[in-house]
Amino acid sequence: MEFNVKSGSPEKQRSACVVVGVFEPRRLTPTAEQIDTISNGYISALLRRGDIEGKVGQVLLLHHVPNILSERVLLVGCGKERELSATQYKQIIQKTIHTLNETGSMEAINFLSELHVKGRDTYWKIRDAVETAQDNLYVFDKFKSNKQETRRPLRKMVFNVSTRRELTAGEMAITHGTSIAKGVSLAKDLANMPPNIANPEYLAKQSKLLEKEYPSIKTQILDEESMQELQMNSYLAVGRGSKNESFLSIINYEGAKDTNAKPIVLIGKGLTFDAGGISLKPPANMDEMKYDMCGAASVIGTMKAIAELNLPINVVGMAAGCENMPGGNSFRPGDILTSMSGQTIEVLNTDAEGRLVLCDVLTYAERFEPDCVIDIATLTGACIVALGNHVSGLMSTHNPLAHELSNASEQSGDKVWRLPMDEVYMDKLKSPFADMANIGTPGAGTTVAACFLSKFTKKYNWAHLDIAGTAWKQGAHKGATGRPVPLLVQYLLNKSDSINNHESNK
Ligand code: BES
Ligand code: MN
Ligand code: ZN
Repeated sequence: MEFNVKSGSPEKQRSACVVVGVFEPRRLTPTAEQIDTISNGYISALLRRGDIEGKVGQVLLLHHVPNILSERVLLVGCGKERELSATQYKQIIQKTIHTLNETGSMEAINFLSELHVKGRDTYWKIRDAVETAQDNLYVFDKFKSNKQETRRPLRKMVFNVSTRRELTAGEMAITHGTSIAKGVSLAKDLANMPPNIANPEYLAKQSKLLEKEYPSIKTQILDEESMQELQMNSYLAVGRGSKNESFLSIINYEGAKDTNAKPIVLIGKGLTFDAGGISLKPPANMDEMKYDMCGAASVIGTMKAIAELNLPINVVGMAAGCENMPGGNSFRPGDILTSMSGQTIEVLNTDAEGRLVLCDVLTYAERFEPDCVIDIATLTGACIVALGNHVSGLMSTHNPLAHELSNASEQSGDKVWRLPMDEVYMDKLKSPFADMANIGTPGAGTTVAACFLSKFTKKYNWAHLDIAGTAWKQGAHKGATGRPVPLLVQYLLNKSDSINNHESNK
């Protein structure tokens, strides 16, 4: 879909549809007011008759509004004027996109950026609308014989801003929003693919494709033999029960002017299927464990987005591909593994495999002398119990990094909430036979998993995102969400800004 910004009055636009808001109860937004005046009270007459109240979720499509050049006017309910939140704004945009797409308007001019959303500027409103539009128009129908085509799909949206001064911010919002949406869409595609096709080798191939598409990216793939040489015994143990080889993709993005600038390292859990191994999972919803690679998918998506944006920073993205299956060669409960760090791990549950894969990749990350390391993983069912499906878990041993991620979350709307990482939880991981066990005593499962990882992150600043509840949706809208690509790109945009500001201050 194509996006544009423009500044002009609503009655002069020649478009398939003009989109304007109506507040509750039956109150016109400034643009709706303008249309009402020019059409001799056409809109206010409709409101008086009770055709639309202005509640969030309501829409009314009008044709041939007097003295208006556009074919249609779409009135969109915006709720109470003083209470418009970011979440409601998103709902309004969502409703708008679906209505336009289903009623034959292939292009539209959108005046909803004039709404006052608490604490948000024009840049935010336009960027959010771009991301929301692309998010809602996404379909995954690669395996459908009969694809449901929309007869006249929405192809172009023009955002109207009230002053010409805002055009630059609007254009930047479209650039950023479009790139983030591309990253989100790639992450969704990778995650929605079935696990018989999207195996670790497939993830590696997709990571390699980025290198072809962007000159700023070089991708290196480590196979099991290379991992063996590196003594990544914990990672390798998890893949042993599967016929599919494990592959670790290392996607190197160099955008910094100073090529020696320390990279930010992103590590994604890439379990292309997690059956639990010998500690086999129960059958209900096991198909959803194809989504256990959403961390890796989000890293690949984020790398694409930042390459699109040419951000002036260095980033290393790692996708830790692996499959956890029961089999004659599987690792077992009771096994003791020697991780790449040299620390030994007693396996008490082969279904706590994500941390076993990640710990070796975290050790490997030391060689980049990173500015910081962020891992992203569908790590614990406990995180869904704690935070549900709208908020990801954030844990960190470095307060400034945790704050930067919380801020990026607030800005992007890709929500996180910090959970504790206190040393009091460490005792839970004690093992009578090895340096640690791979599961803890009951309670605080999400924190305990993070505590396990923290034993491998002593050499750098580190944060962990548990996306078990947010990476995909169940039910009628089943599918990957592409989260936390928006959060990660926002964090990297902020990093890029601080570098630019620093340099221009010199
Ligand atoms: N991939 C799962 C976590 C998960 C489960 C994410 C359900 C999303 C939905 C992870 O590998 C796992 O199995 N974790 C176990 C850990 C436990 C054995 C300590 C869990 O959460 O039950
Ligand atoms: Mn598991
Ligand atoms: Zn898992």
